[in-house]
Amino acid sequence: MAAVVVRSREATVHKAATIVLGLDPPELAEEVMDFLDRTGRARVIGTASSGSELGKAVRERQPNAVVAQPELMHAAGPLDGSAFLALATSESVAVLRQSLRAGARGFFLWPDERGELARAASMAAPPPDRPDGSRALMVAVYGPRGGTGTTFVATHLAASFAREGKDTVLVDLNPMFGDVTAALGVPSDPAPKTVADLVPVADELGEPHLEEVLWPHAAGFRALLAPGDARDSERAGLFHYTAALSVLHSSVDVVVLHLPRVPDKVALDALEMSDRILVVLSLDVLGFRSAKRAMSVLASVGLDDRCEIVVNRSARGDIVPSDVRRVFGVDAAAVLRWDRAVPAAQDRGALLPPRNATSKAIDRLARTLAAPAAPDGEESDAIA
Ligand SMILES: Nc1ncnc2c1ncn2[C@@H]1O[C@H](COP(=O)(O)OP(=O)(O)OP(=O)(O)O)[C@@H](O)[C@H]1O
Ligand SMILES: [Mg+2]
Repeated sequence: MAAVVVRSREATVHKAATIVLGLDPPELAEEVMDFLDRTGRARVIGTASSGSELGKAVRERQPNAVVAQPELMHAAGPLDGSAFLALATSESVAVLRQSLRAGARGFFLWPDERGELARAASMAAPPPDRPDGSRALMVAVYGPRGGTGTTFVATHLAASFAREGKDTVLVDLNPMFGDVTAALGVPSDPAPKTVADLVPVADELGEPHLEEVLWPHAAGFRALLAPGDARDSERAGLFHYTAALSVLHSSVDVVVLHLPRVPDKVALDALEMSDRILVVLSLDVLGFRSAKRAMSVLASVGLDDRCEIVVNRSARGDIVPSDVRRVFGVDAAAVLRWDRAVPAAQDRGALLPPRNATSKAIDRLARTLAAPAAPDGEESDAIA
């Protein structure tokens, strides 16, 4: 059995998040600036007290995050890739609505929620540099229709990357069901560690904390499991997942993201961080319909160019893999046949053996994902 690769952690360099403030009156801006600078994890590089000034500061300074009153952000114009953290001294429906409309990643009441603000601001920092400057390949596996094989593809893709010798982590972003835990056959006694175990160390999350929580699979990859109960899922919200993904991004070779069918805020953030998004499709009318809708939603947030289709459970029928090109304008990146060994293995909490034809097709898919994109029109060889 393959050994789990543990990477040396010495020379990872963490940077403070750069912040532009858009706050009025100036005394408020000064208070917030003092506070954020003192945390050491955020650095204020510009301030503005009107919408136009703020727009200019964002364009010129390109901060990691903008901490601003929603009305100022609204008047400032596009964020140009910065995260927006809304701040207000009192809460009202109008202010919350304006924050959402301006694309806020979080809303914070000053001064009561300044601890949360500091955490969110520090999370906007770019992922720390790896000694060789490289970043993990992030592959999201997303099945817009239930039962198409998201869990099957994600778990086996992680095993394929591990077989390639890549330090791979599979992240279960579906806290409602924790299917990855069952599909990998993780024993329940003692209860495995999950993302909820990151909550107490979230303020200073680093690779050593994550190492303790990741569950090592015998196939050579590790998994960040979803919490076993709903209360724990609530505690392990956006912040902990984002923090974990940011650490993984700079510390492993490949991150495979197992997404829920209805993406929540956590999943949307993860999709944005992904280099490749695999949309898992079954060859039936509803499968095509759901995938079409999902693609148009992803296109509306500018993520369609990193999407690829993986056909799963392909069997003889009226709808065939070549219909993918007709409907989506591209060939499937892989076509995985219906294979009765799959449910049998999954029900036992086991993965298919590497010599199985479907495993080999997923190996080929993993190799194409790790390689630069092939020119359009070239035949995919990841066919089972
Ligand atoms: N290629 C395949 N051949 C045969 N059966 C398959 C294949 N892929 C998945 N299955 C089976 O189909 C069912 C659904 O697969 P899986 O649980 O991976 O899908 P899912 O998209 O994660 O489902 P859900 O929406 O319930 O989370 C399971 O019983 C699984 O074993
Ligand atoms: Mg599933």
